[in-house]
Amino acid sequence: MYQNFEEIKRDCLNCQMCRLYEGRHNVVFGVGNPQAQVMFIGEGPGEQEDLKGEPFVGKAGQLLDKMLYAVDLDRHKNIYITNIVKCRPPHNRDPLEDEQDACIRYLRAQTKMIRPKIIIALGRIAGMKLIKPDLRITREHGVWIYTKGIWMMPMFHPAAILRNPNQMEEAFQDFQSLRNKIKEVCPQVYVNEE
Ligand code: URA
Repeated sequence: MYQNFEEIKRDCLNCQMCRLYEGRHNVVFGVGNPQAQVMFIGEGPGEQEDLKGEPFVGKAGQLLDKMLYAVDLDRHKNIYITNIVKCRPPHNRDPLEDEQDACIRYLRAQTKMIRPKIIIALGRIAGMKLIKPDLRITREHGVWIYTKGIWMMPMFHPAAILRNPNQMEEAFQDFQSLRNKIKEVCPQVYVNEE
């Protein structure tokens, strides 16, 4: 249906399909390289993201950038980052089922256009929506599944790691696992690495 990324973005920026549009300052469409082979998907914008119009720019985002850097990934170069819902839920509550369902069309269109080889679900909400509804993040983070030509893995949400720093080591192991998977299925991601 969509011919290019800009068309998806235009529809998304004008969206009023659920109640979340009422309180937004900005629609947070996504950031990164639309030709990326690796996508990161979080749950929804927080306060900073709503104000800036970019995903993961608050404290959790800074931690995410550090972990990405540790495995030679960069939000402006070789990945694409977005969320299940593109508008901030009030007081950072979890996005409701009907809000997720109203918004998922944009994520589907983005994914169809990007055609990633790997998708990382950041946190429980994204993991439940993208991988399986009864996902237990503490038990199943770091576990790869292969579906419809895409490798998917749930990871701890960086905000959860900030609340629970004892998860940091396992989170870094998941990033190493991601690095290995990239080298296995889409090594071009790293071709510009010296
Ligand atoms: N948490 C998310 O899930 N997404 C963001 O963009 C920011 C915080």
